[in-house]
Amino acid sequence: MSQTLPPPLTYAMIGGGTGAFIGEVHRKAIALDHSATLVAGAFSSTPERSIESARQLGLPHDRSYTTYQELVKQEASRPDRVDFVVIVTPNDSHHPIAKAALEAGFHVVLDKPATQTSEQAQELIELSKEHNRLCCVTYNYTGYPMVRQARALIEANHIGPIRKVFVEYHQGWLASDLESTGQKQASWRVDPHRAGIGGAIGDIGTHAENLASFVTGLQPQSIYADLRSFVPNRPLDDDASVFINYTSGAHAVLTASQICIGRGNGLTLRIHGESGSISWNQETPDTLEVTKLNTNPVTYSRGGPDLHDDATISTRIPQGHPEGYLEAFANIYKGATDAIREHNSDQDPSRLAQLIPTIDDGYQGVRFVECCVQSSRSRAAVNF
Ligand SMILES: NC(=O)c1ccc[n+]([C@@H]2O[C@H](COP(=O)([O-])OP(=O)(O)OC[C@H]3O[C@@H](n4cnc5c(N)ncnc54)[C@H](O)[C@@H]3O)[C@@H](O)[C@H]2O)c1
Repeated sequence: MSQTLPPPLTYAMIGGGTGAFIGEVHRKAIALDHSATLVAGAFSSTPERSIESARQLGLPHDRSYTTYQELVKQEASRPDRVDFVVIVTPNDSHHPIAKAALEAGFHVVLDKPATQTSEQAQELIELSKEHNRLCCVTYNYTGYPMVRQARALIEANHIGPIRKVFVEYHQGWLASDLESTGQKQASWRVDPHRAGIGGAIGDIGTHAENLASFVTGLQPQSIYADLRSFVPNRPLDDDASVFINYTSGAHAVLTASQICIGRGNGLTLRIHGESGSISWNQETPDTLEVTKLNTNPVTYSRGGPDLHDDATISTRIPQGHPEGYLEAFANIYKGATDAIREHNSDQDPSRLAQLIPTIDDGYQGVRFVECCVQSSRSRAAVNF
């Protein structure tokens, strides 16, 4: 990480009010590197809650908005308008909010899944180009230093051409009908109107797909999926088993499930090449196991020697002091804020900026969910 910090950018947040989950994570991740300052927000679908959340976050009255429409309109007309807008609402409002923000000339950071349909994601790609604004999608697991190390090793052909990928994202928090208790995060995630056509596949399967794509660089060609809903009367899948054929001939098995009692955020990636394999687990993110054919495993350690620059520049503290989720998230924001600064001053993107997930990745994630749903319904493979 650079020692001289540029002055922070400013941002507005939409969603992430009191009691919300991921908005607070975004705020903490941004604060970690002082890369931007929160100066405006429309934090809730309920106007009073939005204003109360703004008050709790210490925002001035004139930049505490009741709706995203008001925020976009008012901020766009200010001489000190925010540099970018962060969108952390449930999935159904991502597209209209991102569209409004891009059209008003703001850079956007949008959480996943980018939109509910691939047509909407495609429209955001086009708006981002038309208005010459960046649109980053927070596939935050790509921010881990050892994930970036894995990617660099594969790019350098360290394990040879890839044959097989196993990627799983297993959680247990939706193993019962939590939604019937009114639990906020569960309620919208199982509602097709708010979540979109994917349940677990859209919520966490898309992270798994993105992680595998980021690390391997492989391009999906066809998808065969079996989506299930184990909890009675749940309208969306809570468990997904997916085969991915890549254009290179490599193959992946992806499982995403939210009914795995005992699992927290069990995101694991194992990649097998012709001359070696690589293994990484989100719950022990500081290490990466690499095994070459007929040799003992080697463990790479975050902050240790012999790491690729992409891993080293994504690290803040010495080896042995654990880093984790917030730091990986902060790496996405360090890259996104670098990218915005560089874009605004016509500079080439820094390496951290080049590594950020964009709306193109967001499109791929939504397309992946659509292919899985279509395949599972038709019980046939679907071209990507
Ligand atoms: N990247 C990740 O690891 C990660 C993790 C969790 C959630 N997410 C994504 O983040 C988004 C939010 O998830 P969450 O778990 O924080 O949800 P949440 O229900 O905890 O929070 C959503 C917040 O958005 C507010 N909101 C809803 N509609 C709004 C509107 N029109 N205008 C302003 N505010 C509005 C709600 O009042 C609430 O404060 C989802 O798209 C989810 O998929 C990403």
